[in-house]
Amino acid sequence: MAVDNFEEKINPVRNKPLKVAVDESLTEKISNGINILEKEAKEAINQTLDLSQLERIRIKYLGRKGEFNNLIKELPKMSEESKAHIGRRLNSVRNDLETLIDERLHKLKDEIIEEKLRSEGVDVSMPGRGLSLGHLHPLTKVERRIEDIFQSMGFSIVMGFSIVFGPEIESEYYNFNALNIPQNHPARDMQDTFWLRQKISNLKSQISNSKNRLLLRTHTSPMQVRYMEKNNPPFRIIVPGRVYRYEATDASHEIQFHQIESLMVDKNISLANLKAVFEEFFKKFFENKKVEVRFRPGYFPFVEPGIEVDIRLGSNPKWLEVAGAGMVHPKVFEAAGYVPSDWQGFAFGMGLERLTMLCYGINDIRLFYSSDFRFLKQF
Ligand code: DAH
Repeated sequence: MAVDNFEEKINPVRNKPLKVAVDESLTEKISNGINILEKEAKEAINQTLDLSQLERIRIKYLGRKGEFNNLIKELPKMSEESKAHIGRRLNSVRNDLETLIDERLHKLKDEIIEEKLRSEGVDVSMPGRGLSLGHLHPLTKVERRIEDIFQSMGFSIVMGFSIVFGPEIESEYYNFNALNIPQNHPARDMQDTFWLRQKISNLKSQISNSKNRLLLRTHTSPMQVRYMEKNNPPFRIIVPGRVYRYEATDASHEIQFHQIESLMVDKNISLANLKAVFEEFFKKFFENKKVEVRFRPGYFPFVEPGIEVDIRLGSNPKWLEVAGAGMVHPKVFEAAGYVPSDWQGFAFGMGLERLTMLCYGINDIRLFYSSDFRFLKQF
């Protein structure tokens, strides 16, 4: 100390400039360092793309062991004047950088929110999604068309065919016996069906009374007697409905299908009336495409004579069987409580699936019941 003082005293001029020179170069170095770091940090901040990168930059420059704190460590080596100057500069750069980081942080957060809104948000200006309404099944559509045609047939709407419906769970009596198909008649074999199990306590009376044995109807013909029991001629009706058969399924057979039954009773009905009705119906159904109708003899216990009805479309050489028909059998009139000699009538039964398949060119009956949208959406 004494030596230093002495040195200072004897050579004040030499000592002073020396000390200042050291200080100045450090100050300059630090000052440049600050400028470089400031520039570097600002660039880095402006280029950050996500929050974690920004945080890494903050730690690198402004953290406790960061670049600027390293510079602060140099301060004590400087003159009071430089210390104050560099100190202020450091503070102001720190503040600038903190503000910049803050701004960048908000910007990045906004961008994240915007991106989220863009990807997950609801654009209220977009047109609404249309509700897809279902539509009628092709069988229902064709059934309704057929009903319309028959209803419109006649001299006036009132004279058109009435539409009536019957039960799908039917008694053995109406399904068979009343239609002249007694217990052991071979015609029953062709219409094997699903019998319903009934309570044991009812069994005795069921065996003795076939009106009570229940089954899923095999055809719509049971409605003939049911209707005649309650109505007096003249009348003309059609009976659309679902029927059941116990059989193996394939492209043209199903265990459930639909028929359109018809019955027309009056004093003077003949096969000529039946033929006229068929010709008129098919002309309307196939919309004036050329249709020929052919009758062939056929056997059904509830009609006499019985016929099979074929049609031929356009220039197609093939006849297609579309219905069974005939003149109502006296025994059926009798079962209904009519005096057979008083009345004449025709009856027929058509397959709805057959006509629908012809109408739309469908080649497999099983498609109707598959509930396959690829099929159903086409109608
Ligand atoms: N019910 C018959 C069947 O399912 C079809 C039929 C034939 C109905 C002749 C009739 C008819 O009304 O007269 O095979």
